[in-house]
Amino acid sequence: MINRFNNLTSKEWLPFQKSWFKFTDDETLYRQNIRFFIQFDDPEKEPNLLFWGSDEQLKTIKILQKELGFNLFVPENSKKADTFQFVLIDLRSFITGNRSFDNYMIIKNQTLELIYGLKNKILHRRFISIQISNIYNENVFFPFAWDLAKTISSFYSLKDEKTGCLNTGQVSEKSDYFKTSGNLFYGLYFRADEKSQYQANSFAYPFFENTCQIKADKVLFDDFPSWYILKPKPRKKTEILHPAKYPEDLAEMHIKAFTKEGENVFDPMSGTGSTQIAALMLNRNAYGTELSQFFCNIANERCKNLKSGNNKSSEYKILCQDARKIKPKNFPLIDYIITSPPYWDMLNMKGAENQAKRIKNGLQLNYSENMEDLGNTSDYNQFLSDLTNIYFNLILILKPGGYITIVVKNIKKKGNNYPFAWDLALRLQKKLILLPESFWLQDDISIAPYGYGNTFVSNTFHQYCLTFQKPVL
Ligand SMILES: C[S@@+](CC[C@H](N)C(=O)[O-])C[C@H]1O[C@@H](n2cnc3c(N)ncnc32)[C@H](O)[C@@H]1O
Repeated sequence: MINRFNNLTSKEWLPFQKSWFKFTDDETLYRQNIRFFIQFDDPEKEPNLLFWGSDEQLKTIKILQKELGFNLFVPENSKKADTFQFVLIDLRSFITGNRSFDNYMIIKNQTLELIYGLKNKILHRRFISIQISNIYNENVFFPFAWDLAKTISSFYSLKDEKTGCLNTGQVSEKSDYFKTSGNLFYGLYFRADEKSQYQANSFAYPFFENTCQIKADKVLFDDFPSWYILKPKPRKKTEILHPAKYPEDLAEMHIKAFTKEGENVFDPMSGTGSTQIAALMLNRNAYGTELSQFFCNIANERCKNLKSGNNKSSEYKILCQDARKIKPKNFPLIDYIITSPPYWDMLNMKGAENQAKRIKNGLQLNYSENMEDLGNTSDYNQFLSDLTNIYFNLILILKPGGYITIVVKNIKKKGNNYPFAWDLALRLQKKLILLPESFWLQDDISIAPYGYGNTFVSNTFHQYCLTFQKPVL
């Protein structure tokens, strides 16, 4: 197959497509990006690169310029170039410290001004990449990366996002409030193409509010990692029947961090009961709902078997019902919720990841045909509103100061990117306090060469674990 996009072989193309990577140094990061997004050896396209970053970072780019051979421009002399094949912006060193919010607003406007001004210069279907972190400072979390991505997506196509995981080891600091080690950043990818809409002109206001940490009862937390690789254990016969379960280990590490023995854990969309199994194993009480009678039976059966074995004191109750109809009178006050919703209607999409294998093994592809199943709602905004309402309703059964963790990922569908994780966080922030993100990284799925020779499409192997706190009024 002809590679019109860059001069990499399919073997060289693949590693860049994994949506997370262990960050080692700027030089490697920049080299990988430049090699992927610039078509070297193309006599028709002059390889012009625009870089914006700190002076130190610019030095690194100059080393690569010698090695790879491209024309380098910076914002100050960008007018001299007619076209750009690639724009690389590194904001990581610009937005730091105690004044990071004010800092961000200035840098955001400069970034928007710069790339908006490039709208007729970036070659068709070529990319802008922005490296940026979210910041948690003095118990205030502000997702700068998501905010910037959402803003820019109003005038360039948001194509993808990768996470750079810093291998700095675990910080073992204790904190009064929940925080993650924060050792990661985002690579945001935008494309200039037929879907780019350039009419936006006022971008100043932030999508995400600067949510103030309303002080809850202080709970001493061990520092929580911002990324971890979990390989699910082989699934048992009944668990394989479910198209999308998460590993019990994932639920366990969160339940350990957010609750003590004897406390109450809840999952409104229990599936095969992974949350409840993890809770019972840790001597917590386990509650929940599940729409599908079939999966609800599996979940209850698994809990029953576990209880008849080694777990005696804790209790469980999983009701077969629509999570929209949860009534506080049916459950005790809950200390912690951990859950994962359907990822919109992706299981109904033909050719979705993992479907061919399930068809071959005669397994069901979606959760149910039930129209109350959120996985059967095809309208994205409707799906988001329904889901948001389910979580808002759960606030009634959650104790003040209690936490809720939601496992989700951003979705790519028919060439468009739907930042489901960010959109959900944005909506839930209206009533809940958004806390720093952590990622469950998958490293046991082979990488597919999506878009080879044509455009960049990553394999999404990072799942967001979004955590919120119910304010104490
Ligand atoms: C991603 S799966 C959860 C998997 C679960 N965490 C596990 O490990 O088995 C989402 C679940 O939500 C359920 N579901 C979909 N719509 C629902 C609704 N309206 N009320 C309750 N459950 C629903 C589906 O049946 C499915 O089992």
